[in-house]
Amino acid sequence: MKQFDFLILGSGIAGLSFALKVAEHGRVAIVTKKSRAESNTNYAQGGIAAVTSKEDSFEAHVRDTLEAGAGLCKENVVRTIVEEGPARIQELIDLGMKFSERENGGGIKELDLGMEGGHSKRRILHAKDVTGREIERALLTAVAEQPNIEVFENNFAIDLITSQKLGYVGENRCHGVYVLDNATGVVETFAANQILLATGGCGKVYLYTTNPDIATGDGVAMAYRAGAAVANMEFIQFHPTCLYHPKAKSFLISEAVRGEGGILKDASGAEFMDKYHPMQSLAARDIVARAIDSEMKKTGAACVYLDITHRPAPFIIDRFPNIYQTCLGFGIDITKEPIPVVPAAHYQCGGVRVNMDGETDIAGLYAVGEVACTGLHGANRLASNSLLEALVFAHRAAEKILSKPLPKNGITIPPWQSGNAHNPDELVVVSHNWDEIRRMMWDYVGIVRTNKRLQRAKKRIDNLQEEIQEYYWDFIVSSDLLELRNIALVAKLIIKSALQRPESRGLNFNLDYPEADPTWAQRDTVLRKK
Ligand code: FAD
Ligand code: SIN
Repeated sequence: MKQFDFLILGSGIAGLSFALKVAEHGRVAIVTKKSRAESNTNYAQGGIAAVTSKEDSFEAHVRDTLEAGAGLCKENVVRTIVEEGPARIQELIDLGMKFSERENGGGIKELDLGMEGGHSKRRILHAKDVTGREIERALLTAVAEQPNIEVFENNFAIDLITSQKLGYVGENRCHGVYVLDNATGVVETFAANQILLATGGCGKVYLYTTNPDIATGDGVAMAYRAGAAVANMEFIQFHPTCLYHPKAKSFLISEAVRGEGGILKDASGAEFMDKYHPMQSLAARDIVARAIDSEMKKTGAACVYLDITHRPAPFIIDRFPNIYQTCLGFGIDITKEPIPVVPAAHYQCGGVRVNMDGETDIAGLYAVGEVACTGLHGANRLASNSLLEALVFAHRAAEKILSKPLPKNGITIPPWQSGNAHNPDELVVVSHNWDEIRRMMWDYVGIVRTNKRLQRAKKRIDNLQEEIQEYYWDFIVSSDLLELRNIALVAKLIIKSALQRPESRGLNFNLDYPEADPTWAQRDTVLRKK
């Protein structure tokens, strides 16, 4: 058994920034299922929304967030994150994060502020179009300098170990995690009294996604199995502009491209967003994604186009070097031709329900970042608010933990038990079920939903889950099988949540109830294992 004071699952912005906050107060383990930089954070393009200019105000950022969230945001959470954000950004800069700058006329450098959908002001701090890569670089460099932090790469967290699971009565407390070491195939016990879930989102539940392969909803699945409340999972955000090319896997075309003047057009070159919203191509994401979906369905086209060719080529190449180079690699010169784009699953607005300090309802278990539902995003996240939320809540969770004496370790945890048979069929069955779930979620639980499609999806996922459970108990676990079990559970939570909400609000658009129901404003969909 490995024993630590703080156990962190995940090495994106949430896990790493929390680790740096607590490192001076005890031994820290960061368990991460691939290499340390591999995370949604690493692929973030647009940047971090925060009020840093005199032309902007906290009030405006709060208002934009509430408006995008379509009546479901918690205003106190929004205010806290917006107001505490600038201090957390300054800490990131002090750690070595390099944001893009520009000259302000008088020869003085200032932060360059980008624009994205739903924002009424320029407020997005960015590092060109590779903000996430620069965040990971800065945080991982700082982590490497901390002797108290040990990073366990290629280690897959399987399940949380709680007092309830161990048969104790009284308060349900988290004592550790069973972790599969992918290199050895051995499942080890990691014990700690303060455990942070920072495992990110679940884009891989859908066939088309902007997310990398790590995003299989493991944290939500683990927390739900352990008895924590999970909220608002029906609100899956589809990013309007993912590159459409047969060889491109999950490549995002940042909303910042629209922020710098990019215009959505159909195959004939005609603009269409004016039919849907006065902010046109810069309307909030739910509106733009639904508009594109509707245009594609109406015309039968496989994609729409994002045109930024009217901006000078040197500007495009300097502002979006990664997007320019990647598209060029696929034979598309974005300075000369429009970019073929389609919507794709992007962000999980719901998650493990937490309070203002990142505490879940299991003692000793915290959740920060995309895995958590704080109340900031409501029914639709405002672009570039998630990195900010992770920074602010990592800080708040650390402050909360450090405000009291750390509890002593001491419970005996039994070693991991599992089936020990090898299944020769397993790989093909796992990959078949994996594809089936992702396609079914795309077709039945996507941008536009109906009750009938949701009911069909529920029946299918129930059958698949039964099949997967059989493998799980009988055979030696592998990360493929564990991820399959998690995407199946998270798919079920999304379907159940969508079935529970009899209205269209933000990202949950159901043709059987096309309007928002005011009695559902401010009501979360909460699921908890019986
Ligand atoms: P992640 O960064 O996803 O990190 C999760 C970590 O957990 C990873 O290290 C992963 O390997 C690990 N993990 C997962 N499961 C397990 C397990 N079972 N065991 C062990 N480890 C595990 N947001 C913005 O605010 N601005 C942007 O510009 C922006 N651009 C984006 C662009 C793209 C392409 C994508 C996909 C997302 C973007 N987002 C953006 C969203 C944002 O990047 C994420 O919400 C945020 O980075 C999540 O951070 P996190 O630390 O919670 O999770
Ligand atoms: C983007 O660059 O378009 C992504 C921004 C975000 O998801 O917040």
